[in-house]
Amino acid sequence: MIAFDPSSAPERVRIVDLHPDMGDLREEAVEGLRRSEKELPCKYFYDALGARLFEAITELPESYPTRTELGIMSRTVHEMAEAIGPHATLVEFGSGVGLKTQKLFDALIDPSGCVLIDISRAALEASAHQLADRYDGIEVIAVCADYTQPLRLPRPHRPSSRTVAFFPGSTIGNFTHDEAVSFLERVAELVGQGGGLLVGIDRKKDPKVVEGAYNDPLGVTAAFNLNILRRLNQCGADFDLSTFRHHAPYVESEGRIEMRLVSEIDQSIRIGDAEVALSAGEHILTEHSHKYDLQQFEDMARTAGFRLTRHWSDENDWFSVCFLEVEDEPA
Ligand code: AVI
Repeated sequence: MIAFDPSSAPERVRIVDLHPDMGDLREEAVEGLRRSEKELPCKYFYDALGARLFEAITELPESYPTRTELGIMSRTVHEMAEAIGPHATLVEFGSGVGLKTQKLFDALIDPSGCVLIDISRAALEASAHQLADRYDGIEVIAVCADYTQPLRLPRPHRPSSRTVAFFPGSTIGNFTHDEAVSFLERVAELVGQGGGLLVGIDRKKDPKVVEGAYNDPLGVTAAFNLNILRRLNQCGADFDLSTFRHHAPYVESEGRIEMRLVSEIDQSIRIGDAEVALSAGEHILTEHSHKYDLQQFEDMARTAGFRLTRHWSDENDWFSVCFLEVEDEPA
């Protein structure tokens, strides 16, 4: 009998660490708060507590996006898998291998491998092993990188028919219009000729419905928003959270929800050695969440080198999952 030698077993998870620049919360905060329209980067919502508060948001009856997108996927994921075709390599941005990725992976026809890209190595490794455990025999490549910056993809060992990225959750809406187009351009480059992107977008709808989702009566979204100040306090700031109020209006002219923290008093905030003044009624913009109509999103995709070839929506057209394919280069 030959003894099992684990070192000869094929690697189930390959880690590629590109050592991304993690940013400096305090520095970026001071820079954002010194602008004429004060802002804080929404990526800082997601510490351990922020991630749990976001999970809680998705459970709220008013919060339609996650539920609606999951419903679309449950009903149509096999059509999505067919559009993608067999032996594809799936690329997932962000490390959380959620229910939507599992649904897609379960439906994919003999996928070649999966590439996960995230800035947090710890979260990435955990998700990569979770995925490898769930899908025996699938090669999982975990790339520790900032996906908002240009990068080159490692290829799985098995031959692959095409590379298709998955970006659910309407996270693309958290970019500005120009950032979203640049992101789509980078994805088109990343997946290359024949490649595709399956992306969830939140559609334009009655502003009352949208505002209801971001101003829930339980105050979960308010806590999620205020948590960014609590995080800053852990890095040497002295925000008094009780002097800020969450407010998230739908700004029609921009087609987006703006998550704001409104100062209720005139005050001066210390962040490390820096000092920032806020007057009563002035707000800090912490996130914008764009809502699209299909034509507008198709135009953005075309600018970035993609063709919108299929889309799946709910019965109210509140949310869509779009399949974008890289435009053939002219011969
Ligand atoms: C992650 N992102 C798509 C969410 C959104 O709807 O823009 C974050 C969120 N902010 C408040 N509620 C949920």
